[in-house]
Amino acid sequence: MNILILGSGGREHAIAWKIMQSPKVEELFIAPGNAGTAKLGKNIAINPEDFQAVKELVLENNISLVVVGPEAPLVAGVHDFFLADEELKDVKVIGPQKEAAQLEGSKEFAKEFMMRHNIPTAAYESFTAETLEDGYKFLETLKAPYVLKADGLAAGKGVLILNDLDEAKKELKEMLSNQKFGDASAKVVIEEFLDGIEMSCFVLTDGKNYVTLPNAKDYKRIGEGDTGLNTGGMGAVSPVPFADDAFLEKVENQVIKPTIEGLQKDNLPYKGFVFFGLIKVGDEPKVIEYNCRMGDPETEVVMPRIQSDFVELLEKTGEGTLDTATIEFVPKSATTVMLVSGGYPEAYEKGKEISGLENTRYCMAFHAGTKLDGDKVLTNGGRVIAVSAYGNDFKEALEKSYENAKEISFDGVYYRKDIGFDL
Ligand code: AMP
Ligand code: GLY
Repeated sequence: MNILILGSGGREHAIAWKIMQSPKVEELFIAPGNAGTAKLGKNIAINPEDFQAVKELVLENNISLVVVGPEAPLVAGVHDFFLADEELKDVKVIGPQKEAAQLEGSKEFAKEFMMRHNIPTAAYESFTAETLEDGYKFLETLKAPYVLKADGLAAGKGVLILNDLDEAKKELKEMLSNQKFGDASAKVVIEEFLDGIEMSCFVLTDGKNYVTLPNAKDYKRIGEGDTGLNTGGMGAVSPVPFADDAFLEKVENQVIKPTIEGLQKDNLPYKGFVFFGLIKVGDEPKVIEYNCRMGDPETEVVMPRIQSDFVELLEKTGEGTLDTATIEFVPKSATTVMLVSGGYPEAYEKGKEISGLENTRYCMAFHAGTKLDGDKVLTNGGRVIAVSAYGNDFKEALEKSYENAKEISFDGVYYRKDIGFDL
């Protein structure tokens, strides 16, 4: 079978790496891909949001399965586009249709879904520019810190956590009246602050049945000790040591099952990944967010921990037969450490030559933001390489990730030396 992956990050490289282990694959295409995916399949320089270009690629290359990496094409309706097209309607697309992608695309949609289906989450209310004064009043009823969330997609920057009431009011006004995040903050969800430790769970679902993928914890802040600005993610660990069986059973019964049942009750077709951003408050799971795709860099530790044929799981997702699937995990820990460009997550330069990749041993160097220039591999983004490795426990895996991270260099390279510090 010929497969297409849409996207260009470490997540897509890790998915490509796992897919290529399956004997079911004939040809793999990645659009647009990066220097890492170029070694596994054929990169095609098109924009995943240019659906017409995606269509031509699929038809020309007889592609029967499309895995959508990032959220933007899903929220823009790539799956709906396939279903509505006579020539594409039988191609299996992994990723929900536009309506269910609102679980990620709209915080308010997600909160209403959770309320309707009794899924544990923070108490909230949502506001628009017309109800700004009510928003101030609601803030006055809460205790610090105050959590303000732009309703729409804001490239991971739309959540503000503020310690001061006046500042929270000021920011609320910035978001609602001054379009701080453009259209994304035309509506703002204000929610109760939850104090606990975060982790991510993932399932692959056909809308009725699901398989649970390995769980993971990512490290979002740029600085050691979880300080400084938020990033896309600086490292990850799987499995999460504090997520014991009793806790995971609660996640399954209180979060995962009601979510999949909720999708059916609400008539929301869903074939794809569900990413549950959770916070463990005491011993209880609460949902902080849904994403309609895999996490990055979580995928760089989740894919290495899947033993089963992943293409078979994706096929069954597309067919709606995941009830006949089982999934086996690699009985090891996996960790990843993200090498980023100097200055990230603020301004940084691209085009720096990366050296030392050939010196890495016993690791998987997943490319996040790289491109080929002849024989050279150049940096092409803020997050550059995710160095993933296995160990008998997360500490052993981290030692390997770090040994190999040292081998890879480029001008301005930075990585956190403390991934897993809190475990
Ligand atoms: P989100 O974009 O919804 O994942 O939020 C970004 C980050 O903000 C999360 O990863 C949490 O660290 C934090 N966060 C979001 N909602 C809450 C909340 N209700 N209480 C505490 N922290 C939160
Ligand atoms: N690592 C968090 C995310 O992918 O949203």
